[in-house]
Amino acid sequence: MPLKSSTGAQYARIMSVGGARGSRVVTNDEMCTMIDSSDEWITQRTGIKERRWVAEGEDAETLGLEASRKAIERAGLQPTDVDAIIVSTVSHFMQTPSLAAILAKDLGLDAPAAFDISAACAGFSYGVGVAEGMVRTGSAKHVLVLGVEVLSRYTDMNDRSTAFLFSDGAGAVIVGPSETPALGPTVWGSKPEAHSVIEIDDWRGVEPGSEGPFIHMEGREVFKWATTAIVDKAIETLEASGLTPDDLDCFIPHQANNRITDSMLRHLKLPEDVVVARDIVRMGNSSAASIPLAMEALLESGEAKSGDSALIIGFGAGLVFSGQTLILP
Ligand code: UT7
Repeated sequence: MPLKSSTGAQYARIMSVGGARGSRVVTNDEMCTMIDSSDEWITQRTGIKERRWVAEGEDAETLGLEASRKAIERAGLQPTDVDAIIVSTVSHFMQTPSLAAILAKDLGLDAPAAFDISAACAGFSYGVGVAEGMVRTGSAKHVLVLGVEVLSRYTDMNDRSTAFLFSDGAGAVIVGPSETPALGPTVWGSKPEAHSVIEIDDWRGVEPGSEGPFIHMEGREVFKWATTAIVDKAIETLEASGLTPDDLDCFIPHQANNRITDSMLRHLKLPEDVVVARDIVRMGNSSAASIPLAMEALLESGEAKSGDSALIIGFGAGLVFSGQTLILP
């Protein structure tokens, strides 16, 4: 007797996006009271002018809740319409329950599938790829995908090569059914031999009450990989969707470094009028939250509009990467 298998919507789409930023603004000048650096160096090397850190009472749960509520409301849904929640984070400090399960309760979701994934700065796109599969195979109709990080918690102020980069924020989308193609194929993968290039210390080595664990990164190695292999993957992602650079309205890469974005732009040969996300200038690098936050910012500023096509690509610790071409909500 053959097993039954499920089928869902023919296509999936991103229905909405919502974000939340740590409410403490930390300028480069303030940063340079903590590390030996300068506004000029940080601006030239990365584009960052300021970043957001959590203030008293804020954490991954509060930021995630705010972003998720916005995404659910903007999709025109009730919390009980969401039947799965996927949270991408490296900033949830318990192995279990997942942050997804905790937020399912906070949001008043009705017994959804709930799980976390760990894919660092590529995690939002990983979540979108998984959600698309769920919607199209029928295991869920409306999936909340949230990227949330509190990287200030992992910042080592004695490490001037990373301390100025990272920030705290959350970005959420609802992935749901679509009558037309609106979410291109996921192109993803990893570089396993480089798994230790970006690391957060093993918690078992951290003395109770002491500082840490901390992020460590071989910045130049990541930079090289992002401006070579990942550029090729961005081209592959666009081609997989059937679009050409001339068809593209927006480019929303992971907000790691404006120089990486510039290098990608040169290789992708995108037309001049393609809108390019530069949220890093005021936000720094918020890892899994960076792409949905940049997406929300482009839509809110009017630089991009609903129905525009956008190429997203995330890359980071693992090393892992993931991208899609999609239609903006
Ligand atoms: O989100 C996950 C993915 N992450 C990334 O994509 C990050 C990729 N990497 C980068 O964005 C860059 O490598 C950084 C922004 C992290 C660093 O920029 P860089 O241009 O690669 O700098 P570097 O490490 O090559 O250092 C250049 C110089 C060094 O001095 P010497 O050896 O040339 O004399 C550093 O000691 O800059 C010095 N330096 C600093 N100077 C002022 C390093 N950090 C600082 C600092 N302020 N904060």
